Amino acid sequence: MMYALRAATRTVGRAAGTVILQPTSASLGLTRLPLRGVVTSKPNAKEVDQGLDKSVKVQGRGVRMQAVPGIADVTMKHDTGMLKLSWSTGGNNIYPYVWLRDNCQCPLCFHSGSSSRVYLIEELDLNARPRRAQVADGRAVEVEWTDGHFSRFEASWLLPRAFQSAENYTRTPSYKLAPQPWGSELMENLPRASFPEMMSDDSALLKWSQQLEIFGFVMVNGAPAEPGQVRRLADRIAFIKKTHYGEDFTVIVKDDPSNVAYLSGPLQLHADLPYYQYKPGVQFIHCIKQYEGNGGDSLVTDGLHAANLLREIHPQKYQILTSTPVDWFDEGSDEVGEFLKVLQLPMICTDSYGDVCRINFSQPQRDSFFDIPAEDVAAWYDAMKTYHQLLADPENCLHFKMTPGTIMTFDNLRILHGRTAYLSGYSARHIEGCYVDWDEVRSRRHVLEKKFGMSSRRVVGQEE
Ligand code: OGA
Ligand code: ZN
Ligand code: ZN
Repeated sequence: MMYALRAATRTVGRAAGTVILQPTSASLGLTRLPLRGVVTSKPNAKEVDQGLDKSVKVQGRGVRMQAVPGIADVTMKHDTGMLKLSWSTGGNNIYPYVWLRDNCQCPLCFHSGSSSRVYLIEELDLNARPRRAQVADGRAVEVEWTDGHFSRFEASWLLPRAFQSAENYTRTPSYKLAPQPWGSELMENLPRASFPEMMSDDSALLKWSQQLEIFGFVMVNGAPAEPGQVRRLADRIAFIKKTHYGEDFTVIVKDDPSNVAYLSGPLQLHADLPYYQYKPGVQFIHCIKQYEGNGGDSLVTDGLHAANLLREIHPQKYQILTSTPVDWFDEGSDEVGEFLKVLQLPMICTDSYGDVCRINFSQPQRDSFFDIPAEDVAAWYDAMKTYHQLLADPENCLHFKMTPGTIMTFDNLRILHGRTAYLSGYSARHIEGCYVDWDEVRSRRHVLEKKFGMSSRRVVGQEE
């Protein structure tokens, strides 16, 4: 088979009549471009009833829908290689020829059942240009290309895919929610979700996923205080990310432990599994039985917030921690057999835009191999200690004791967690954990947003 065709089908808006509901740019917080004459329908009452629009103001994603305006005119701009589309509401958008040709929706070019482009890339003519372009019924653009190929683009398809010209361009990643960094003030307004509601109500699951993406932490209450619940939750969202510690794991004091978590000593602030290239993104920690004496408390801190503070207060130290490769390491055996994992990554990883995308912090799992010049070592330790002070500062770090039936759910790429020591033997403490990948959690959010008529994709405004 030439193409791996996914089974998923797409039902993107081919609505009857001329008015098709789409998310509004205004509701997406994109105020920079003037929006012209957009008709905004009322918020979907069902969504409001379900509280989707209430406590979390979801940046970049809206619940309101707008009517897609008709297309008034289309002009070929051969000098710039763009098609200029004028909407009936007065605004314009430009669409590059090469992009239009690449995204032809005809069955030869695109297999709608699998939402997949299927024409051969060798066939893409970088100089493709229309011989003719015309408006069809005010709601589509028909293009006849110079090689005779024919394409039709619906207004409802074109509008959400509109380009911004370079002078108006602002980067708005289409698939993820902007994080809101926090300090210990989060405790006063801790993002919460109800386990029974998440298990039975899609709007509760959606709200949880949105909060998790924004705050990196949601406390889930009301789970049965018995084993098997983290797996149920993972299965409700998608599926467990298995590691060499198994699918779900039990944190109790163990003889001959394979991980320091299975001792009763303190677990310093850490992210799990820093030595995984594909580090599990979302972590669940379920308290089944809590230690009854002093100890066994949880510590949770926002690695992104502390990184922002470090960059502000000690830019040189931030530079060191974002650029120095550190060896992360784990060796031993557990239920999946023997493992010996090594990975080199900075403590604070940034992406090509300079945004923090992953924090690696684990005192136990930092290797003694350190592959940097000897002269650079002391400055790295100094920077790391300063970062840790910010992470652990009571101004920034949450400190609470989980009660049986609660599940901490958090972003293992951003949030660091820990536990205070407890006396083994006095009363048992029983924790169960597992991971789910961010790809799956985010995908579930997108699916649910679509179900509730919200956009999961970037939508730009119309230009003058
Ligand atoms: C872990 C862990 C926390 C706890 O197992 O990685 O952080 O409260 N456990 O035992
Ligand atoms: Zn085609
Ligand atoms: Zn941990």
